Amino acid sequence: MGKIVEIVELTKYINGRLILENVTFHVEKGEIFTIIGGSGSGKTSITKHIVGLWKPTKGYVKVFGKDVTNMSFIEIEELRKNIGYVFQQGALFDSLTVWENVGFFFLEHEDMEEEEIKKIVREKLKLVNLGEEVMDLLPSELSGGMRKRVAIARAIATNPQLIIYDEPTSGLDPITSRVIDDLIVSLRDKTGTTSIVVTHDMVSAFKISDRMLILNKGRVVQIGTPSEIMKSDIPFVRDFIKKGLGEASIRTL
Ligand SMILES: Nc1ncnc2c1ncn2[C@@H]1O[C@H](COP(=O)(O)OP(=O)(O)O)[C@@H](O)[C@H]1O
Ligand SMILES: [Mg+2]
Repeated sequence: MGKIVEIVELTKYINGRLILENVTFHVEKGEIFTIIGGSGSGKTSITKHIVGLWKPTKGYVKVFGKDVTNMSFIEIEELRKNIGYVFQQGALFDSLTVWENVGFFFLEHEDMEEEEIKKIVREKLKLVNLGEEVMDLLPSELSGGMRKRVAIARAIATNPQLIIYDEPTSGLDPITSRVIDDLIVSLRDKTGTTSIVVTHDMVSAFKISDRMLILNKGRVVQIGTPSEIMKSDIPFVRDFIKKGLGEASIRTL
């Protein structure tokens, strides 16, 4: 099994403030790896290092076997083409149709015929269980769950080897959240794409993860499979699970 992401002793200070401290973990090819922690614990900050937006104060970040820290601008561009990023807010372009949003990369970067782009868009929409009929709609005409699917379709448009989902279920109702959970798993099963899911949704994390990392105030508290985390004897982890799932769920999960 190859390591798609390898982070070793990542420490980040911003304006003298410690944001991440000695964060070490790796993500295996094809796995769904979840980073779970409260608001402000540093989840999004970790992903910013993975895509080369931020440089570590200390430690290193390797993606696809290459150190992101020393990459040239061109290498970073190449790296980002290989990483699909589903932003926390969905971040679709309001004035563009669904197909233009999903095909955005090709419209911007490649000299391709519209029909060729639309063909790719149809294929990606199908992967997120959306039909042809949404192609010409605007984001404002879609439900929250559909918008999230379009954002995912856009993230996979270039067939990235890694997808990063930042809070994919935030702002969605519980039923739609479970639909998105299932979609993340089915996409991984269909395409084998390595997935990093940042979330504070404990139900999602236990449902979809191969392994999960519990983050608190910029530090790794524990890394393990859902069943290892469930059996954790670390007080912070037990407390965190209890708050996130409720007492009854701990017994039934
Ligand atoms: N651009 C920034 N400048 C200064 N501080 C930041 C910046 N981005 C994030 N932070 C701080 O870093 C900490 C972690 O933030 P973040 O990674 O966004 O947390 P999470 O995604 O877990 O909610 C927070 O205290 C936040 O205020
Ligand atoms: Mg965040």
